[in-house]
Amino acid sequence: MKGNIALIAHGGAGGINYAHRRSKGLRKAVEEGYEILRQGGSSLDAVEESAVILEDTPVFNAGTGSYLNLSGEVEMDASIMTSEMSFGAVGVIRDIKNPIRVARMVMEKTDHLLLCGDNAIKFARYMGAPYHNPKTREKEFIWRRRKRRMESRYFKRIGAFADHFGTIGVVAIDMNGLISVATSSGGINLRLPGRVGDTPIIGAGTYADRNGGVSTTGHGEEIMRQLLAFRVVTLMSKMPASKAGRKTLAQATKAGCQCGMIGIDRKSRILCLNNTKAMSWCYVKGGRMRTFPAE
Ligand code: GLY
Repeated sequence: MKGNIALIAHGGAGGINYAHRRSKGLRKAVEEGYEILRQGGSSLDAVEESAVILEDTPVFNAGTGSYLNLSGEVEMDASIMTSEMSFGAVGVIRDIKNPIRVARMVMEKTDHLLLCGDNAIKFARYMGAPYHNPKTREKEFIWRRRKRRMESRYFKRIGAFADHFGTIGVVAIDMNGLISVATSSGGINLRLPGRVGDTPIIGAGTYADRNGGVSTTGHGEEIMRQLLAFRVVTLMSKMPASKAGRKTLAQATKAGCQCGMIGIDRKSRILCLNNTKAMSWCYVKGGRMRTFPAE
């Protein structure tokens, strides 16, 4: 069934510092992805290309510009999924420019859903992804400043660093009604090395089925407990995207889950919600673009 194309992206729910840089990056990513849809391309290609632009924009916490773990290293998570239930993901991957491209390779070139750590890197190299250092001076500065303040009582205080999370996500529906979701993250600032967040977990950071698709952002441990993306998409079978999101967000908020979410249902209705201080986002539907923060 032919339908209305639409694409939405977010730049994380951990606040909107550097508002201009965020809006600019989001608009560029959305324009690129929407153009693919407009020319009749697939939502899978659209979300991948939009996500690559966001991963390459250092203001966001994904790809280049990811937050550092406790050891000062960048370890990234990413996943991609379509409404035909194809899924691929990578966890704690290092030294790669675009984790979302590797997630798509896991989906299309292997029989598996999720590859992690050193062997995910080996797989990426085997598939031709070159070495890339995603660490930026800006994020290293944030890491140093925060680390000095938290040398002791780490486990009690990690919650205090949850404002330094972020993720990027993109959801799109193409002319053929295929819905795709891409999510990519550098995780929480100062997390323990080896920690896997919600981003590569099917149903937590990313989910899609014939009812719709959702990408989430926020405090990964809580999002995993809530299986947030799955719950919203499941409700989309009975109600419009935004109502499904509002209902799920109310339950998540009661459970203390700091999060944000974007989504599109099978009728191309958009969802964009958060219970944190702020979430940056941008979407195009019916040829009309909307952005927050507006410039
Ligand atoms: N949602 C990003 C993370 O917690 O890793």
